[in-house]
Amino acid sequence: MDAHVVKKCINPSCGLTYEINNDIYRCSCGSLLDIKYSQRPPRELIEKFYQRRNHGGNIYNESGVWRFRDLINFAGIDTEDFDECARVLVSLDGSEGRLSKPYRMSKAADHAGMEHDSFLLQPEGYNPSGSFKDNGMSTAVTHAKMLGVRKIICASTGNTSASAAMYAANEDIDCDVYIPKGEIAPGKLGQAFQFGAQVIQIQGNFDDALSASLKNAKETGGYTVNSVNPFRLEGQKTIVYRVLEHLNWNPPDWIVYPGGALGNTSSCGKCLIELYEWGWIKKIPRMAIVNAEGANTFYELYNGLFENKKLTWNDGRPDLGMIERYYAHLDEKGIRPKTHATAIQIGRPANIVKALRALNFTNGVVVQVSDKEMADGMSIVGLNGFDCEMASGAVPAGVKKLRSDGIIKRDDVVVGILTGRQKDAGLAVEYHTNESNLYAKPPTNR
Ligand code: F0G
Repeated sequence: MDAHVVKKCINPSCGLTYEINNDIYRCSCGSLLDIKYSQRPPRELIEKFYQRRNHGGNIYNESGVWRFRDLINFAGIDTEDFDECARVLVSLDGSEGRLSKPYRMSKAADHAGMEHDSFLLQPEGYNPSGSFKDNGMSTAVTHAKMLGVRKIICASTGNTSASAAMYAANEDIDCDVYIPKGEIAPGKLGQAFQFGAQVIQIQGNFDDALSASLKNAKETGGYTVNSVNPFRLEGQKTIVYRVLEHLNWNPPDWIVYPGGALGNTSSCGKCLIELYEWGWIKKIPRMAIVNAEGANTFYELYNGLFENKKLTWNDGRPDLGMIERYYAHLDEKGIRPKTHATAIQIGRPANIVKALRALNFTNGVVVQVSDKEMADGMSIVGLNGFDCEMASGAVPAGVKKLRSDGIIKRDDVVVGILTGRQKDAGLAVEYHTNESNLYAKPPTNR
């Protein structure tokens, strides 16, 4: 494999590098790894990205992920030739990222207290498996294929497993998915079965499922496709490229994501750091991460609500002991993550250190919202003719909160990522059947 790219420890005082022809995702010092490219891509590529949108049937130009392949080029592809791309790059027929771009949603803007023109939401639910995960799964499974892997493994609150199972089926490899029993949306569970994955139900939550799946991957030689895998995060950078492309590469004031395992937070941060270092952008958008109140580890630690001290990146030396003490405190008090937004029902965000780096670079903020606020957020997106799940409803809800706190200004340019499509139809029915809900339109009977 090409030495233009390595895996590098994110801990600046370690910085050990690894070749990429293996599935090591954690440094011997315990930190996670980044994908590092030695070349600086020329800004003229922007023109090429535009041209590729006129794809002429080439699925690697049609794909909203692989259209940007020069910026995630761990596979060393240097060609426009379809057959050569097809030998290496994994795509679900060009559909990942294809429909994703920011949209104006005036009712959601009113809900959040924003100007109609400057508040944009990007539905990543319109990916082939119905969530943003396909962005990163296409790259992770590409790497798995480069290694000749026969089985991929993940833990999931439902969307990762749907995406992994879908790509595995398409590539004819095996897929084991570890899910918290009874805690995932029915539509997501159905997808894992339908795409032929082996479902392993864990008595416990996502954090327990992740430990079990990482252990199993180690024992059986399966390839982990959770967001601890740095190749996943490479693909997820394309979410941000599509935002920027839509804005003619003029960065917005804010980019807003829901926070779960903090993979998106980390990939957005890495993406912006790279673009800034390459001289592609001068302005750095601020990131806002929205936790569910019932799963608010990042909110509490980042804002200094535990031990009265804010957890920070601290030049690459965050207080890891504090994270461990926080987790011990959760265990001791029997606090388990609990929210109806099951996608983000996560107590131990695996990418927390990378996320700290992202927020440090972007002067970011972390807020929390209630289940009710997320349900209203989900519903107002629906009233604009788009559908999203409750975890994504955290985005309009979080912007509303940041507006009322005076942190986001009314005419700031804000792009929020709607991470997934509605896969629990019961939630929408429940919401609208209860007339006390803000946007409920209860059914009538005659
Ligand atoms: N939104 C949706 C719809 C998700 O499915 C997830 C994560 C997130 C937000 C949080 O993203 O982890 O990058 O902070 N779902 C994972 C899964 C955990 O297994 O499907 P994150």
